[in-house]
Amino acid sequence: MVFSSSLWLSLLSVLYYITLTNAALPDLNAIIAQLKKNGACCTALDYFLPGKVHFNLPTDLAYQASQLSFWSAQEQTLHPTCIVTPTSTQNVSIAVAILNAGYQANIKGCQFAVRSAGHTPQAGSANIDGGVTIDLQSLNQVTISSDQKIVSIGPGNRWGNVYATLDNLNLAMVGGRVTPVGVGGLVTGGGVSFYSGRYGFACDNIQTYEVVLANGTITTASTNTNPTLFRAVKGGSNNFGVVTRFDAKLHQQTAFWGGTIFQPITNKEAVFEFFQNFTVSATYDPYAALISGFAWVEGIATIAHIIAYTNGDVVWPPPTFKPLNDMPKVSTTIRKDKISSFALEIEGSLALTNSHNNLFVTLTFVNKPGVSQDFMAEVYELSDAVAKELITVVGLIFTFTLQPMTNSIYSKSAATGGNVLGLDRFKDDLINLLFTVSWTLPTDNARVEAAMQGLEDAIVAKEKQMGVFNEFVYLNYAAEWQDPIQGYGAANVAFMKSVSKKYDPNGLFQKAVPGGYKLGA
Ligand SMILES: Cc1cc2nc3c(=O)[nH]c(=O)nc-3n(C[C@H](O)[C@H](O)[C@H](O)COP(=O)(O)OP(=O)(O)OC[C@H]3O[C@@H](n4cnc5c(N)ncnc54)[C@H](O)[C@@H]3O)c2cc1C
Ligand SMILES: *[C@@H]1O[C@H](CO)[C@@H](O)[C@H](O)[C@H]1NC(C)=O
Ligand SMILES: *[C@@H]1O[C@H](CO)[C@@H](O)[C@H](O)[C@H]1NC(C)=O
Ligand SMILES: *[C@@H]1O[C@H](CO)[C@@H](O)[C@H](O)[C@H]1NC(C)=O
Repeated sequence: MVFSSSLWLSLLSVLYYITLTNAALPDLNAIIAQLKKNGACCTALDYFLPGKVHFNLPTDLAYQASQLSFWSAQEQTLHPTCIVTPTSTQNVSIAVAILNAGYQANIKGCQFAVRSAGHTPQAGSANIDGGVTIDLQSLNQVTISSDQKIVSIGPGNRWGNVYATLDNLNLAMVGGRVTPVGVGGLVTGGGVSFYSGRYGFACDNIQTYEVVLANGTITTASTNTNPTLFRAVKGGSNNFGVVTRFDAKLHQQTAFWGGTIFQPITNKEAVFEFFQNFTVSATYDPYAALISGFAWVEGIATIAHIIAYTNGDVVWPPPTFKPLNDMPKVSTTIRKDKISSFALEIEGSLALTNSHNNLFVTLTFVNKPGVSQDFMAEVYELSDAVAKELITVVGLIFTFTLQPMTNSIYSKSAATGGNVLGLDRFKDDLINLLFTVSWTLPTDNARVEAAMQGLEDAIVAKEKQMGVFNEFVYLNYAAEWQDPIQGYGAANVAFMKSVSKKYDPNGLFQKAVPGGYKLGA
């Protein structure tokens, strides 16, 4: 590979800057020598982070294990030239500095993906073909402050690991609901929790984010330090840097009520009415969390409600769940237990989806009394038709779930410095609609995706027709073709662009990190 002298000058100035101001980064001349010698980022990374760079060889078990630990088949089909497995923030800083230098000098193979547990389904969100994947799974510390007010967690944790530590101490944080899902993606994308009724989204309950910026600098963001970066990473996903530590607020928590209630599909009209009644800020019980799911297997639909009530001092059922609990049941697992147990139960119910082809599509609608129950019935009919149309897709599991996103939940962010989700521009109580589709054969991918795009369009049209349309698209549940960032609203997009300009002036995370949802031109 031949480099022009002006390219080398710009590379030199970038590296000179780094060397001047961050003593922990490798010597400038040494990086240049490595990049020049082989003209590829992976070999330079291997030189500076020995033992932490893995190549696609059958004998490199760390590479193979990292690939297999993605949830979806789609992510597993991409093959980075190398996978970097940092074991410290310092290691991440070195990796990003090298990738930045290499990318700016147009050296081949310097595009990269940022990956925590890898639970986002679509190909390329947290993995890359060619290029480099930074696998953060070894950053899995769970460290509790001596006053038990803050827990510092690494992004590569899975929630099961976090809760295993916290449960033993009767402590809790606002985090995910399923054991193997990752911290890094969930928190930077918002994060809906069993505790959201009490405390809002996961991202709003982080006191301090530690971030590695594009130039390799390690910094922190909180209400006092880098406050604009602090707001931007709350919903901003991978657009501003690599988050290497989350300092989350802790709460006391002993065992509480939770589990799953399975119901016959004949309950559906009553469930839609219940859900409409339930998702009202004025009466929303902050201890209550609910995911009402409709699942089709072989074209047959059933209902499963995942429930949590984070107050174990009451008698089951509390008034808010009584109408639901009184409906005809197939079975129930409701019990008093700790969050680890509920997170494991949900994982179990999803076992068949591991390494399957998986797809999420999400929408938001306004909970309008008297209207949204009919709207939900329309969603059911449209979904039933698609589930039946796709019945010959091998291994098909088709679901949609409803989750309350009340004003009482999303307005909590203002108290902790705000986020960029943009929900604060609304007044309505909202309902999140999530479709999950899981199937066996990649040859069915195009067909499933086309059917789901058609379903999405039909539902948006129905929302508009019935006056319940809302443009928010929850990033953590979005399909590849959806645009959650635009759904944050123009003011937030402009704000995020200004933060990107300040903290990543050359647009490394916009151009060299193609995965995830970008800020746009
Ligand atoms: C079974 C299941 C259950 C779920 N349950 C919930 C739930 O209860 N609540 C909820 O809100 N969501 C839930 N989700 C959605 C979940 O939030 C997203 O899939 C999330 O992205 C997973 O995080 P991860 O770390 O595994 O993501 P990854 O796939 O590793 O990454 C997702 C995106 O985030 C970026 N990213 C990851 N880590 C970092 C980092 N450290 N710094 C910067 N960017 C980063 C990646 O580049 C990528 O674009 C669930 C998903 C599944 C599959
Ligand atoms: C990478 O991090 C480890 C700590 O886990 C540290 O021992 C090592 O020195 C770091 N490597 C470099 C090159 O900084
Ligand atoms: C919904 O609320 C209305 C009005 O309070 C009530 O009559 C109805 O029984 C409730 N429905 C369900 C299913 O809880
Ligand atoms: C790294 O980038 C940040 C944000 O743009 C800037 O404040 C800092 O001075 C830069 N540091 C180095 C070493 O270039």
